[in-house]
Amino acid sequence: HSFVDVDISSLKTGQQITVTWQGHPVFILNRPKETLQTLQDASLVSHLRDPDSKDFQQPPYTQNWHRSIHPETAVLIGVCTHLGCVPTLQLSNKMGGLYNCTCHGSKFDLAGRVYKSMPAPYNLPVPPYTYIKPNIIRIG
Ligand code: FES
Repeated sequence: HSFVDVDISSLKTGQQITVTWQGHPVFILNRPKETLQTLQDASLVSHLRDPDSKDFQQPPYTQNWHRSIHPETAVLIGVCTHLGCVPTLQLSNKMGGLYNCTCHGSKFDLAGRVYKSMPAPYNLPVPPYTYIKPNIIRIG
């Protein structure tokens, strides 16, 4: 099978798990309320290169400010769009948390949206996924 089922029922607020799908790390993050507020904050959005993911074809259910099916749960391919390093989650940050790629310094918000003037040209990709049960995500 080319899909992976992930039970997220024990995922706590602020917790992230990484699963492997088609050889790629996929981050599943339970975003805290403060992060969800920050993702909609105009002062953050103005620093993003492509806040609406217009430059990068993505599944239709990601065409929203949280780039996911349910706002609290982020599902992102954890591969930097610069040269493919795996960004690190940093939850405590005044911008509501970020993914920091330590290879060449690209920074993404917790919807995977890249900040302006970063080496990474695009937002972190969202893989195809569905909820097959309320707490089971099928990736692929
Ligand atoms: Fe992430 Fe270069 S690979 S900044």
